[in-house]
Amino acid sequence: MAEQREFFYRRLHSLLGVIPIGIFLIQHLIVNHFAVYGEDSFNKAAAFMEGLPFRVVLEIFVIFLPILFHAILGVYIVFVAKNNPVKYSFFRNWMFLLQRLTGIITLIFIAWHVWETRVQAGLGNVDVNYNLMEDILSSTYMFWFYIVGVISTTFHFANGLWSFFVTWGITQTPRSQQMTTYATIGVFLALSYIGVRSLIKFAYGI
Ligand code: HEM
Repeated sequence: MAEQREFFYRRLHSLLGVIPIGIFLIQHLIVNHFAVYGEDSFNKAAAFMEGLPFRVVLEIFVIFLPILFHAILGVYIVFVAKNNPVKYSFFRNWMFLLQRLTGIITLIFIAWHVWETRVQAGLGNVDVNYNLMEDILSSTYMFWFYIVGVISTTFHFANGLWSFFVTWGITQTPRSQQMTTYATIGVFLALSYIGVRSLIKFAYGI
């Protein structure tokens, strides 16, 4: 029974990493990319997202609770669960380790990012707009913190996508797993570019 429950939780953890958290991540990075087209474009996009009907319900059930569950079980998996029972290749062993490391970095980054944006806006201390991000990223420390945070998150998602396909039995042969490695490297590079490009615009106006 305990094993069945653990199996269920691990599957849920895996599913939530892609749906809805991964989908939200892609959407979030794309909306941020409006910054590259200028302050007005970004503010319009941010205002549209803020004005969505049932926004708080969506935030709680599509973003907050799934991330909370994934993060709590994630920390448990990193620090408590017995790891790496399967024999992996040298490359996959590294990816396995990096998946755990980026999980922790991503957790710290998301906690800080949500605190200084969504929570402060909720407390009425700031408005979430172009100026806020420009202010935050005008500090060189913060700029690099965000660069590391964004790249850690995109890596964690892209590499997680690879293991998600294995977990759910979608890629079973060595060849399909090899192809997925290439595809997920593409996902990692594309999302990192989209995210980093917006950060450069906020920080340096270019
Ligand atoms: C934007 C945030 C996040 C996204 C998009 C995300 C996505 C994913 C995905 C898709 C997987 C692969 C699931 C599978 O292997 O089937 C995964 C695995 C994992 N995530 Fe996350 N994750 C995020 C945040 C976090 C956080 C904050 C932690 C906290 C430590 C974390 C810890 C883990 C761990 C440990 C695994 C490996 C699970 C295993 O190998 O069984 N993740 N994540």
